[in-house]
Amino acid sequence: MFVILEKKRLNPDVLEMKVSAPRVAEFAQPGQFVIVIPDKTGERVPLTICDYDRKAGSVTIVFQVVGLSTRKMARLEKGDAFADFVGPLGKSSELISESPEELSGKNILFIAGGVGAAPIYPQMKWLNSHGKKADLILGARDAGQLILVKELKENANKVFITTNDGSAGTKGFVTGPLNDLLLNRSCHYDRIIAIGPLIMMKSVADLTRSFNVKTIVSLNPLMIDGTGMCGACRVTIGNQTKFTCVDGPEFDGHLVNFEEAMRRQAMYKPEEKEHDHLCNMDLAVEESHSKSLK
Ligand code: NAD
Ligand code: FES
Repeated sequence: MFVILEKKRLNPDVLEMKVSAPRVAEFAQPGQFVIVIPDKTGERVPLTICDYDRKAGSVTIVFQVVGLSTRKMARLEKGDAFADFVGPLGKSSELISESPEELSGKNILFIAGGVGAAPIYPQMKWLNSHGKKADLILGARDAGQLILVKELKENANKVFITTNDGSAGTKGFVTGPLNDLLLNRSCHYDRIIAIGPLIMMKSVADLTRSFNVKTIVSLNPLMIDGTGMCGACRVTIGNQTKFTCVDGPEFDGHLVNFEEAMRRQAMYKPEEKEHDHLCNMDLAVEESHSKSLK
């Protein structure tokens, strides 16, 4: 069993959990993910690793409560345990294979949208621990939805914050400051790493393509079982078919067929909703039964 060591609410819909998983912590690298199984009848939930501590043997995950499995996870408290916690899975971020000399000459910009801040954090932390700070654009719907601001700022150089409603930072999407930075000839970026909703990553890639700036995106939201078996995460990258969970989750954003990826993500939405609706009813019955026994 994988015991929850700490539980923290980052915003009304997003939770952070530090989990005891020494074997996963030992081998985890930025960019990789884990599969969490909340209980023995639960589904597999693929989640990008947000942080790891090899000495303490712990791995930190951040998740948005969006369906039955994440609702089940959110009900667990410090001291409870997940039935399974498998990983690290997927390929690590490309930048960690580069030497300190290669990295020192590079100007890197991270773009984090909403919960996408969680998989951005370990990459920025890793870079900072190797003597390199990158710039960051951090966007969310409103000030209350911004997560990991302090942690990201500690590991960043320049930080630009945006909110859709203007309640913090600049009003608008992350693509606003990105456009300004790309137009500003005094700051050239060698690489941009954008993680967030598919539509955000598509907009970023469309913009950076015209400036010819290499852009990496994470297709984590397409994954379902995370084993290479279900086929749900199949994507076209250039002319090639790839599986996000095996070949990714990170890919060259300029080669991703985002229309196909977004169609694929939308395809499973009605089934997921119906399944969640039925299971949520079971969960509600279970909750009211346990209350009546108290
Ligand atoms: P959100 O809808 O609140 O969007 C976050 C930010 O993305 C916005 O504030 C905006 O700045 C930017 N954005 C959104 N639409 C845009 C557009 N059309 N053009 C330019 N920028 C745009 O996101 P949220 O609800 O916090 O996050 C949930 C989504 O993030 C889910 O779809 C989830 O699957 C995805 N997610 C992705 C990853 C990943 O690894 N790629 C990880 C965690 C979550
Ligand atoms: Fe099922 Fe990749 S998530 S094959």
